[in-house]
Amino acid sequence: MNAPVPTVLAGKDIPLYSSIPEAIAALRPIEPVYVLLPHKFKAAAERFLTGFPGTPMYAVKANPLPQAMDLVWASGIRHFDTASLGEVRMVKERFPSAVCHFMAPVRLPGHAKAAFEQYGVTDFVVDCEFELDKLLREVPDHKSLRIFVRLAAQLGGALLELSSKFGTNPEEGAKLLKRIVAAGAAPAMTFHVGSQCVSPFSYAQAVEIVRRTIDRAGVTIAALDIGGGFPAPYLNNELPPYLWYFDTIKEALATLDMPDLPLLCEPGRALVAEGMSLITQVVLRKGDRLYINDGPYGSFDELTLPGFDVDYPSSTYRVSQAGKAEPLIGAVHPYRVYGPTCDTLDVLPRPQMLPASIAAGDFIVFDSMGSYTVAVRTTFNGFFPDTWIQIGQ
Ligand SMILES: Cc1ncc(COP(=O)(O)O)c(C=O)c1O
Repeated sequence: MNAPVPTVLAGKDIPLYSSIPEAIAALRPIEPVYVLLPHKFKAAAERFLTGFPGTPMYAVKANPLPQAMDLVWASGIRHFDTASLGEVRMVKERFPSAVCHFMAPVRLPGHAKAAFEQYGVTDFVVDCEFELDKLLREVPDHKSLRIFVRLAAQLGGALLELSSKFGTNPEEGAKLLKRIVAAGAAPAMTFHVGSQCVSPFSYAQAVEIVRRTIDRAGVTIAALDIGGGFPAPYLNNELPPYLWYFDTIKEALATLDMPDLPLLCEPGRALVAEGMSLITQVVLRKGDRLYINDGPYGSFDELTLPGFDVDYPSSTYRVSQAGKAEPLIGAVHPYRVYGPTCDTLDVLPRPQMLPASIAAGDFIVFDSMGSYTVAVRTTFNGFFPDTWIQIGQ
């Protein structure tokens, strides 16, 4: 009953180009092309490895493709928020020395046991008694466990909230903490302020809820994981500087008065979004309607989520008679952009501002495409983008 492990496409096998225009000119791709930008993976990891006052884990769900995982690993990330047994298995088979943390509050029966026994996972999350009981039954060696109680933290500032499905309140959280201590495991706490969170203050507010929960329980926690939520640059979504997040988090932690408390975070989007661009081609123009070779059933699903009212930054190119990919310049115009399938819903939810001169055969390059894109693509209607290139020296 092993979940499939993604087939390996080692970084060295991916064609290398010096720039995106050079790749467009050389390939003139009919199919969408994922473009890996290793320097951006590195910069994103460094931001957390040097600026975050604790251990950053990579939330694998954001982009579990081997191409991205290899670049995250090469950038120095060694801890992984693996939220299913399949993710644990994939990470440990690919990087045997990686440390996996099973950070999903609801696990399939037997999966905590398998993660512990087969892969040495000792960090787990719960947000209710049922899951705590199940975990304690599946892993009888309680002393080895560090169990994180997940608090709800719907505090505003995030485009996608993650607290209506998971997370408990301080009262119930305190009960869970006491039960964890009584069972002989190490008690810890976690929250997720929501994805694409542009309010650093939400993390401080969540730490305050943690403080109240600890006070109520009267226990000393062994670790705090402040979740993911750190944003990526998209259109129509102003981002505060990252320093503000880390400073705000440090100030909030000081109020806990536990200077040696091990701290973790689990960013997904912030570690991979900027590391990938996507080259698409315009297949047809009908007035102000464009039909391109990728859409919501492929890499653009996230744009259709309620509340995710942003777009990917884009640029456009045309291959000249001389064989060079030249940027399209001039006035821009709003276009309705459709994907390649026969479904009417296969359309980007908002008009895209693109050059007035754009035509069939031109290329649109979308940036910040590394998170929640390739991970959720489907094979619907026979389309499945899976061509990869890399930009580098
Ligand atoms: C428990 C948990 N941790 C981390 C993440 C990653 O969040 P983000 O990509 O916003 O950093 C998610 C996203 O769904 C999550 O559910």
